[in-house]
Amino acid sequence: MDKVTVKTFQEMKDNGKKITMISAYSYPFARIADEIGIDSLLIGDSLGMTVLGFENTLEVTIEDSIRHSQAVARGAKRAHIIGDMPFLSYGINVEETVRNAGRLVKEGKCESVKLEGGVERVEEIKEIKSIGIPVLGHIGLTPTYINEFGGFKIQGKNSETASRLLKHAKLLEDAGVYAMVIESVPWKLAKEITESLSVPTIGIGAGEYCDGQVLVIDDLIGLTLDIKPKFVKKYADVHSIVKNAVKEFSDEVKNGKFPSEKYRYD
Ligand code: KIV
Repeated sequence: MDKVTVKTFQEMKDNGKKITMISAYSYPFARIADEIGIDSLLIGDSLGMTVLGFENTLEVTIEDSIRHSQAVARGAKRAHIIGDMPFLSYGINVEETVRNAGRLVKEGKCESVKLEGGVERVEEIKEIKSIGIPVLGHIGLTPTYINEFGGFKIQGKNSETASRLLKHAKLLEDAGVYAMVIESVPWKLAKEITESLSVPTIGIGAGEYCDGQVLVIDDLIGLTLDIKPKFVKKYADVHSIVKNAVKEFSDEVKNGKFPSEKYRYD
């Protein structure tokens, strides 16, 4: 069992092997994903919506990210662990960005960090890298920009915005990212970006030509109820499984069936 590193990501792209990534936030889910050989675990700031019940990702704090990263890191031995820098943990000044990236590594036990944005992130990426932390870029529908975008909207749909995204991707590569997430863009644009870069692309709602794919674990196991983007494939209905189990427990307690003799101490 070889540990997956940022070097593995590049080797996989170079050898035409697809990279798998799951956004997960807890010890048990990290263990499950690691056991089946998922290549990387991102402790996404989507945790604000999936686990904490916020409307968007903007309220997630660096402390939230660190605490959940620690849990994921404890559950995974092989997968590469990526900390997602939440809103305002970057973008204020470079020193603060580097300190927060460092906290995700030192306290959160992450092995690389992700932050959203294009040209505006170049200096921060270089500085984070200068202290030895690899950086994953993120372009397209970057959720911390929803107020700017007017909601969770597909990006790069016309030629002007598409060529802007292509430029951002190139700038991130030049700044030294080891890979980049491309979120919610037309598949042809994601293909063009993927073919124009040496570093791997990880798609989410960006079609099949990316070098890897990421989904949020709560989405793919059917725990997310309110938002159903087109790109999410629901592989299980865990919401119903859990609901039925809890209902059965509740019914059995109410009607005196649980705990039976089997579940008590003598
Ligand atoms: O926060 C997150 O989970 C993400 C992934 C969906 C890429 O940014």
